[in-house]
Order: sequence, then C-alpha cells, then structure tokens
Amino acid sequence: MGRPKITVVGAGNVGATCAHWAAAREVADVVLVDVVEGMPQGKALDLMQARPIFGFNVNLAGANDYEATKGSQVVIITAGIPRKPGMSREDLINTNKNIVASVTAEVAKRSPNALIIMVANPLDAMSYVALKVSGFPSKRVMGMAGILDTARFRCFIAMELRVAVEEIQAMVLGGHGDDMVPVVSATNVSGVPLTSLLSKKRIQALVERTRKGGGEIVALLKTGSAFYAPAAAVVQMAEAILQNQRRMVPVSAYLTGEYGLEDIYFGVPVILGAGGIEKIITLKLTREEQAMLQKSATGVAKTRDELKM
Ligand SMILES: NC(=O)c1ccc[n+]([C@@H]2O[C@H](COP(=O)([O-])OP(=O)(O)OC[C@H]3O[C@@H](n4cnc5c(N)ncnc54)[C@H](O)[C@@H]3O)[C@@H](O)[C@H]2O)c1
Repeated sequence: MGRPKITVVGAGNVGATCAHWAAAREVADVVLVDVVEGMPQGKALDLMQARPIFGFNVNLAGANDYEATKGSQVVIITAGIPRKPGMSREDLINTNKNIVASVTAEVAKRSPNALIIMVANPLDAMSYVALKVSGFPSKRVMGMAGILDTARFRCFIAMELRVAVEEIQAMVLGGHGDDMVPVVSATNVSGVPLTSLLSKKRIQALVERTRKGGGEIVALLKTGSAFYAPAAAVVQMAEAILQNQRRMVPVSAYLTGEYGLEDIYFGVPVILGAGGIEKIITLKLTREEQAMLQKSATGVAKTRDELKM
C-alpha cells in the first residue's frame, strides 16, 4: 500500500509551511498547488532537497493544475488572501469566497473520498462554502481554528506560569474571530484548575490576548498573517485523520442543532479520526460561557448570511 496523499491548495505562507511540517513528520506525500507559475514546483523541490539532511522519506510535488492531486485522502485549502493590519477576517469574504468555491470544485472532482480541511478566512464561512460546493457529507468537511486558538491560549498560560506547555490543557470554542470563547472552566494545568492558580484579572488578560492573538501577529508582521502555528494545527488535524487517532480537539464543524445552533460552521470539540468528525461533543458550560458562545454564533451567522448560498 502506498503512502497517503495530502493536497495543499495555496502554496503561500500557510500552505508551504503545512507541506514543511507534514513532510518533516512523514505524515504523507504532499502535492502543493498554486496559481503562481513555478512557485509550488520550486517550494516542493526545495523541500525534497531537505530530505537527505533530516532524513524524511516522503515525496513532494508542485503544480499549477489539479491532475497530480487525484485520489488525495486529505485536501487542505489555504488559497486566498490573508489580512493586512486593520482588517478583520470578515473583510476577506468576497475575494476568498470565489477562490474557495473554484478550488473546492476542482479538488472534489478528483478526490471524491477526501476530507477537506479549510484554512482560508473568514474560516467558518469558507468551510460552509466548501461543504455546499463539494456536496461531501459534513463529517468530511471541517475548518481549522480551534486547535490554533487553543494553542495560543495554552502558550500564553505557560508563559505566565513559567511551566511546560504540555502541562496546559485548554479548549477554545466558537467562531474564529475576536468573539471566540476560551473556556476557562475546561482549562487546567496538569489537572489543577487554572482558576486556582491565577487571579480572575490575570486570566481575563490571557483570554483577551488569545482572542486577539491573530491580530497581534498581523500587526507585528505588517504584511500577511501568522503561519507557523496555523500550519502546525492543520498538520495535527491531518495526522489525526490519516492515523485514525480519534483525538478530542476543537474544530470548526457543521452543526445541526448541537449547542442550539443549526446550519452553521462553528468551533466545537469533536472526536477526529479516519472518518473525519466522528462525533461532536457537547460541553457543560457556565452561564457566562454560554452567553459568550451565543454572541460569537450571532457574528458567525451574519457572515454566513452574507454568502447568500
Ligand atoms: N484558519 C486560521 O486559523 C488561519 C490562520 C492563518 C491564515 N489563515 C488564512 O489562510 C489564508 C492563506 O494565508 P497565507 O498567509 O498562506 O496567505 P498567502 O498570501 O501567503 O498564500 C495564499 C496563496 O494562495 C494562492 N492562491 C490564490 N488564489 C488561488 C487559487 N485560485 N488557486 C490556488 N492558489 C491560489 C496565492 O497565490 C498564494 O500563494 C488566508 O485567507 C488567511 O487569512 C487562516
């Protein structure tokens, strides 16, 4: 049996870094697709040449069309424009809707059994576009946001407490925007509740920094947005699927009544395995967390309605 194949559409910052992490971890062979002539081929060849140094044995190829993507198990869509300072993710909707719709049609035709991981923003709305255009079952179409947002929260907590990041367990839910909900009641350090280690004021400051975590990096970079951590989060999802790990992680999933929400992509905890979203987990939230989740859902629903799909 051959190695599994991942297609990454969009070979820019996030896409190329996905290829880099996936290859270095030997998750799968990777096909990078982009509209810019020569660029995905060049990046794939460059990564191929890194293999003898670090000793990873997967194949990478670049292309400007979709022939080489045939029969992929996982398709990652990063094609689209990123934010500039002062822009919200929602400001990208019209440009990215058209790009995501055309890319989805191309990959779905050639890899009818694939799982799609959406990355382009506005994330929850773009996942909705991919679901509608692909016609795939919703368990096979999901968005990456929650693992990244949770990693940011975990990172800030570890920096504050000066403990190893692995000790921090957390969960960030809701839409991938500034109203996302870091769930403090589900956050602990080696099983010890965060609320017993930090004051309410300090926790609130970390929650706020997490919510604006993407914007903080956009402001520092000045051109483009974050890509190392986003790509790592995407590759963790691909790995969970291809190795049937059944990880419990937050992803943007299509809801049909869970959390009182319907016909919407929204960040919730799921079990992620070979079939994609094997199960959506409903958490018991505090009244305050429920209210925040509702506020986030209202924003996500507004953006979905703007798609007019
Ligand atoms: N979900 C998240 O948490 C998250 C995190 C980071 C970035 N993003 C989003 O991911 C997207 C990509 O970000 P980036 O930093 O890699 O941007 P980038 O500009 O570096 O790369 C995007 C690439 O897409 C390509 N592209 C554009 N139209 C295409 C098409 N029709 N077919 C194939 N390729 C096409 C471009 O040529 C470019 O190389 C943005 O929308 C960004 O907002 C999401």
